[in-house]
Amino acid sequence: MSAPGDARPIGIFDSGIGGLSVWREIAARLPAESCVYVADQAHVPYGPRPAQEILTLSLRVVRFLMAARCKLIVVACNSASAAALQHLRRAWPDVPFVGMEPAIKPAAAQSRRRVAGVLATPATLAGELYRGTVARHARDMRIVAQGCPGLVDAIERCMPDAALTALLEGFVEPMRDADADVLVMACTHYPLVKHLIAPLCGPGMALIDPAPAVARQTARLLEAHGLAAPPDAVPTHRFHTTLPAPAALEQPARHWLGDGVRATSLGRDLNSA
Ligand code: DGL
Repeated sequence: MSAPGDARPIGIFDSGIGGLSVWREIAARLPAESCVYVADQAHVPYGPRPAQEILTLSLRVVRFLMAARCKLIVVACNSASAAALQHLRRAWPDVPFVGMEPAIKPAAAQSRRRVAGVLATPATLAGELYRGTVARHARDMRIVAQGCPGLVDAIERCMPDAALTALLEGFVEPMRDADADVLVMACTHYPLVKHLIAPLCGPGMALIDPAPAVARQTARLLEAHGLAAPPDAVPTHRFHTTLPAPAALEQPARHWLGDGVRATSLGRDLNSA
């Protein structure tokens, strides 16, 4: 007889491959859990889109994840969390949702010089979630925020390191000039290029990736709702893209995570969801 528990998968989604930075933490922390990952690459980037459009796109993906019997949803996208999280929670009150909140709270706890840099998307910076987090935790701080145009696309397209570094330098330089001592990565794509961001930070500037905290919160919610998988479960991880070619997800996943992710295309299914 197998151990008690809920073997249904965790649903995770993002506009593209960025949410894989969250998935890898969840998979490492919760090795018995199965996951269904959706990269809505037909619509990446979400960041420059109006909130209403991001909400419509997020609803389509979450309907699919619900049809796939997901027991908990991780919105592994700051832009979708800003535009849609509250609505999603209201639409599915019985399902726990974990969202991405810009890591301003840990930044404020850590900063001595009281200056923080925030790398984000325009949708995240425009959202109430970001404004509220700053108001709650960082009133006494100077925040240098960048909407980072082109960065998500560059990561999706596996831009060569030298060109990416040049792009990143333009975003990080004002943070160095402001003498920031913490840098918040408030888009799940950015930790995938952490190794290129870190050398630009200069001494004394700490980089904050919220993914480990999101994995811990996922674990807490699974426990609290009695949804954890049986400890002896053999997990499956399924990856979907909304583009016609699975390579759209597989290739950048291999490039940035070195992971042999096998993907399937979901275009039709999702459109009919
Ligand atoms: N990775 C996403 C985020 O955290 C999406 C970025 C985008 O599609 O613009 O915001």
